[in-house]
Amino acid sequence: MNWNSQFATRTQYTKRSAVRELLKLTAQPDMISFAGGLPAPELFPVEKVKEAADLMLSEFGHQALQYSETEGIAPLRDWVAAQFNRVGQPFTIGRDNVLIVSGAQQGLDLIGRVLLNEGDKVIVENPTYLALLGAWRPLGVQFLGVPSDENGMVVDALEPLLQQGAKLIYSIPTFQNPQGTTLSLARRQQLTGLLRKYNVGLLEDNPYGELRYSGEALPHVFQLEAEADATGQLRSRVIYSGTFSKVLTPGLRIGWVLADEAVIDKLVMFKQGTDLHTSTLNQYITHALARDGVIDQQLPRLRAAYKQRRDVMLAALAQHFPAGVTWTRPDGGLFLMVTLPTHINAADVLQVAIQHKVAFVPGEDFHLNGGQNTFRLNFSNAQPERIEQGIAILGQVLRMAVA
Ligand SMILES: Cc1ncc(COP(=O)(O)O)c(C=O)c1O
Repeated sequence: MNWNSQFATRTQYTKRSAVRELLKLTAQPDMISFAGGLPAPELFPVEKVKEAADLMLSEFGHQALQYSETEGIAPLRDWVAAQFNRVGQPFTIGRDNVLIVSGAQQGLDLIGRVLLNEGDKVIVENPTYLALLGAWRPLGVQFLGVPSDENGMVVDALEPLLQQGAKLIYSIPTFQNPQGTTLSLARRQQLTGLLRKYNVGLLEDNPYGELRYSGEALPHVFQLEAEADATGQLRSRVIYSGTFSKVLTPGLRIGWVLADEAVIDKLVMFKQGTDLHTSTLNQYITHALARDGVIDQQLPRLRAAYKQRRDVMLAALAQHFPAGVTWTRPDGGLFLMVTLPTHINAADVLQVAIQHKVAFVPGEDFHLNGGQNTFRLNFSNAQPERIEQGIAILGQVLRMAVA
């Protein structure tokens, strides 16, 4: 059979990226890779995970190895809800507002599938998270790009797009992927006002919010917008997506969605058809780690290490990159974005950089349009000396390209 004639129409909306093939080379051990979004593996709490697995298997072995509720195990959902209730707000988030998902990525996929019809208009920052575009393109939606600057999404540019009848906004307000930028408080408030004025929903994706190295913590857009109804139930135009991937380990694949019960109900139905439920054992392990304070122990270690790596990278960029090249200065997260003079194509630079054993991700795939002269650098995965070395090499490659 010729399978190529059998694929569903929606597969035509996905695009294969030549850069992806190139990036397979970055797995070579002598490569200095700023390409992936990988946390530092040497900081994973391996022993604590081992202890938690042992403890959970001893205490709850039979439940932990059994099928479980699609919504997620109750203690983990309660733990997530309690984190949000800690800040004091006019509503209480309950277990029924939380869905445990197999990584935040699954939540993003499910949210798109339950909310978006073919042809619906969806506003995203341009550039935005590559795998969100990958998940939602097959739905046949129309993406509208809103520009962003050093203070995140330019909210002034949002209103004309809302007037075109957009159904949903997707945003990463804090330490955005790929730019590393953060939406200012004033813009968060302005955005909240627009959500209310146009009665439009926002998906707030926040995998990096806990990884802040400088500046003041800001309220989630979710916190600014959410209200209680007459019965004290959560009512929010914001659906919040969170994950344990960056504060514990991505290998457990545990994330969550926080939303009105009506949204969670619908997501549960779709999740059932996708994977029945998220790994029961991994949920038990994650709950033990969260409950026993391992995230609280991890956060200062992660923040200290990543702050150092960010600072080393920023200093190396200033020292080695030629005039005419600019970059963002993130207060947290894992990434920054570099902009080259407009005539230089980052994918061409990557070809040369890989020969010199340094890799990054060209920015084009994060963009709805344009971005050929940009690239994303990850600073969490490589050791400081390798960051210094890699940026020096990249500086030489760029000097040749600029010349
Ligand atoms: C913006 C954004 N959202 C979601 C995810 C997915 O996270 P998870 O590992 O929880 O699936 C990532 C992962 O890199 C991300 O950068």
